[in-house]
Amino acid sequence: MTEDTLYDRLGEETGIRSVVDDFYDRLLADDELGPFFEGADMEKLRRTQTDFLCEAAGGPQTYDAEPVREAHLHVPFTPDLVQRALALLQESLDAFDVPESDADAVVEAVAAYEADLLASPEDTTAD
Ligand code: HEM
Repeated sequence: MTEDTLYDRLGEETGIRSVVDDFYDRLLADDELGPFFEGADMEKLRRTQTDFLCEAAGGPQTYDAEPVREAHLHVPFTPDLVQRALALLQESLDAFDVPESDADAVVEAVAAYEADLLASPEDTTAD
């Protein structure tokens, strides 16, 4: 019997990229989150988010962009906005019929970075 990983079940890089593309489409279309991406290099974001999720799911990719904290210091997130983004990620996973326990694992991989996403340049203590 073959042991399959979350990475395999999500359809490897191609499947994960599809979810990521759908997720960023939802983020861009969102009234509150969309404006944060004005001027952003969306291809870079889609690619790095794909690497991040592939690695988190047990794939061979390595996330090699800026640490999540540094990448978002200039983004004025609030806890509610992070939750809103996570809800959109959940919607994307649902759209691809990802089973609940696998979808939870993906959402959790991003939710684990909530404190880094919320960090602001004035925070001096977290290192
Ligand atoms: C934990 C997983 C995440 C990773 C690995 C990640 C990665 C990145 C990277 C590498 C950048 C680009 C920094 C740069 O080029 O200057 C970035 C920017 C950004 N990310 Fe994320 N991100 C994550 C989660 C999120 C979430 C959940 C949101 C929700 C909306 C988000 C929204 C943004 C925004 C708005 C920018 C700034 C775009 C810009 O100003 O150019 N990120 N992210």
